[in-house]
Amino acid sequence: MGSAMNTVLFSRRQQLSTGGVQAEYVLRWKEFFPYKELRYAPSFCARVICCATIEVLQSYLSWRQNECHVNNQNDTCLYELVRHGKTEKEAQEFLKGTQKNEKHALLFEQFGINYEKLSVMVRQGSCILKTQMEDIVKYNENGVPVKRPRKRPIIVHSKNVAGTSFWNEHESLLKELGCFVKNIGKVDPDFVRSFQFEKKLMPSTWIVIRIDGCHFHSFSKDHEFVKPNDERALNLMNSCAVAVVTEFQDIVFSYGVSDEYSFVLKKDSQLYQRRESDIASAIVSFFTSMYVMKWKYFFPRKELKYTPFFDGRAVCYPSSQILRDYLAWRQVDCHINNQYNTCFWELVKSGKSEREAQNVLKGTQTLEKMELLKQFGISDYNKLPVMFRQGSSAYWEKEDISLVEEKGAASNGKCQKKVILEHCNIIEPSFWNSHPNILGEKLDIL
Ligand code: GTP
Ligand code: MG
Repeated sequence: MGSAMNTVLFSRRQQLSTGGVQAEYVLRWKEFFPYKELRYAPSFCARVICCATIEVLQSYLSWRQNECHVNNQNDTCLYELVRHGKTEKEAQEFLKGTQKNEKHALLFEQFGINYEKLSVMVRQGSCILKTQMEDIVKYNENGVPVKRPRKRPIIVHSKNVAGTSFWNEHESLLKELGCFVKNIGKVDPDFVRSFQFEKKLMPSTWIVIRIDGCHFHSFSKDHEFVKPNDERALNLMNSCAVAVVTEFQDIVFSYGVSDEYSFVLKKDSQLYQRRESDIASAIVSFFTSMYVMKWKYFFPRKELKYTPFFDGRAVCYPSSQILRDYLAWRQVDCHINNQYNTCFWELVKSGKSEREAQNVLKGTQTLEKMELLKQFGISDYNKLPVMFRQGSSAYWEKEDISLVEEKGAASNGKCQKKVILEHCNIIEPSFWNSHPNILGEKLDIL
């Protein structure tokens, strides 16, 4: 029995799902669909299943592979019936309640298809395993190759991924997860589902999904972002955030700085029945897809060297006051970081090493930093671009249709919504008072 807790990440569309997967999907689309444009950003939902024992993992894999087979057989029949004249509804009706062997016979007798001869990938799904390989890293002075072990992922197909013969013959699986002791029969899906951890977010609270770029310190270096603020990179983040707010209509406000963005969902949102993992992964994944899709518009002369990825977390805030405290915290952080980073890079530009610059700034207060900036010709910090100092906010704003439709149609007082992007002070109550629609309330605090 395996003693480690095995975590299985999966998504509705049967893809491993982290921010990185969608980025890779978008980045490599052209390779697989050279003549088809990717028309919009794909997104994936992820769930976590903790498999407490290796037997649960075995059952889980067996269940997923069986689902693959059942769905594929059904879809193949459905497609053939529709191709031969039935409507989709008629085809569905026709297939209702049919067993596997009946579908097999239908395909063979009516459509001349031997199901077993269809591609293994569509019938069995795909496994990716890590195998130990040896890479030649260099040659020594005698021309003898110097090898280093390295783990490489490989794609394999197997009729029974939960079978002992498949599993136990792969050393990496045995080593990292343990062996399957015996073969198992049909698995009750409810048994596996019972391990699914489904956290629902507290009702009637503001949900904030905060996403953050993973390892953006390196990502920004590798893509030569301007220091400390790269306008193109920030505009790219903002453009992705506007797309997210537009796509997920329950998002009422968003605020972003550097490689992070916070998305606020309305209190009574029922998005994915408030399941935390679904909401967070769908937003992270959509944002990441967008980031890759839009990259070329913001960095037309810079190749995206590798896939960026973001993580996401959800926090619930019970009152609009606490929600505004949260947003104020993020904006204060933006200010503190920007002031520090501006000083830091000015010191480095003036010839100090990064360590020396760090030491100069250690323990300095705002006023001292302001003075330091003056020495570098930045006489007024407040004259730096507002986007760098205050971050960016994207939110829905109502506008009078008559102002939008120039062709003269009467507005009848009707409004339409659009997402706007601003760089404003969201700490002050005046912002919220002048935008009462965002949180659905007026504060009347001056
Ligand atoms: P994790 O989030 O923990 O994975 O670390 P991280 O490397 O992403 O760092 P963190 O999120 O704490 O901070 C974001 C980092 O992104 C900054 O420290 C910068 O290095 C980099 N970054 C973000 N925006 C810019 C930018 O406009 N210009 C430059 N040069 N770097 C940026
Ligand atoms: Mg980060």
